Amino acid sequence: MVNVEASYMGFKLKNPVIVGSSGLTNSVENIIEIAKHGAGAVVLKSLFEEQIKHAASSTIMQNEYSNAYPEAEDYIRNYTRENDVANYLKLIEESKKAVDIPIIASINCVSNTEWTTFAKQIEGAGADGLELNVFVLPSDPNREGKDNEAVYFDIVRKILDTVNIPVALKISYYFSSLAKTVTKLSWTGVKGIVLFNRFFSPDIDIENLEIKTTNVFSSPSDIAISLRWIAMMSAHLNCDLAASTGVHDGEGLIKELLAGAKAVQIASVLYKKGFKEIASMLETLENWMERKNYTNLNEFIGKMSVAEAENPASYERVQFMKHFSGIE
Ligand SMILES: Cc1cc2nc3c(=O)[nH]c(=O)nc-3n(C[C@H](O)[C@H](O)[C@H](O)COP(=O)(O)O)c2cc1C
Repeated sequence: MVNVEASYMGFKLKNPVIVGSSGLTNSVENIIEIAKHGAGAVVLKSLFEEQIKHAASSTIMQNEYSNAYPEAEDYIRNYTRENDVANYLKLIEESKKAVDIPIIASINCVSNTEWTTFAKQIEGAGADGLELNVFVLPSDPNREGKDNEAVYFDIVRKILDTVNIPVALKISYYFSSLAKTVTKLSWTGVKGIVLFNRFFSPDIDIENLEIKTTNVFSSPSDIAISLRWIAMMSAHLNCDLAASTGVHDGEGLIKELLAGAKAVQIASVLYKKGFKEIASMLETLENWMERKNYTNLNEFIGKMSVAEAENPASYERVQFMKHFSGIE
């Protein structure tokens, strides 16, 4: 009998499969289903700093009296925000009552301003942990990389000063010096870093000349990016790593653990195939561990990382060469 208990962000999880923040984790009904299907933990849908502000301003736009009554504008702005926050806090409280797996709240943020006070309320509502979903698109040609990076550190610092629950940081790979930044972030006091978030990608409709979004869901081949960076970083950090993007099956789960992840977060595969995939992934993991004579995860987490693999050169290899790809 193998033991698939995992340790992530200071939590003892019954297994390393976490359902990632998404529309699937936005209702108590789904959280109950997710727990029933065996997930080790769940990250709730992000409360968006941007969404809160947008919701407030669009309500104000619809109010024809808003210019005449600026105090009404203040009222609506606060009401909308409080309502969103109240619903989110309710989701945390009800989820905590309904299931016994860790509930990790999530906030999407781009600044360390007013929203940070919400973090305390999230902790008060009973969230076991908090994941900060931060993405600064480095698209401003007049802004230095260090200024973009400072945003992450400022947010983390503020939140760590605000709450006592474990905090994780979910990031993208858009950094000029990804390895150095992730290393420095791991020393801030965060308990976990999630590599990587996935974002809406633009596409062009050539018939209607419109910009549209594409590939909302990942595909299994997308695992390559997180696999490479988990393998390269896992031995050097002062916090746990969770893999996100492209984990669609038990094999993907095993690969990320071998690369050094303490847990994986999944979303797309559950949208495509349903919550039953959680159990299927765990079954694949258990069967593989039995075949390989592993009794617990610690015996193989990181075994194929750059630090431990016998021939890790492929992780660093970026140019196609016939010798490595077998293709001219
Ligand atoms: C429809 C949808 C909604 C998502 N919403 C959020 C969100 O609110 N916050 C967040 O941090 N990630 C969000 N994500 C990203 C997922 O948590 C995950 O990081 C990403 O989809 C990559 O994992 P996957 O390949 O298993 O889908 C969302 C993903 C999808 C597909």
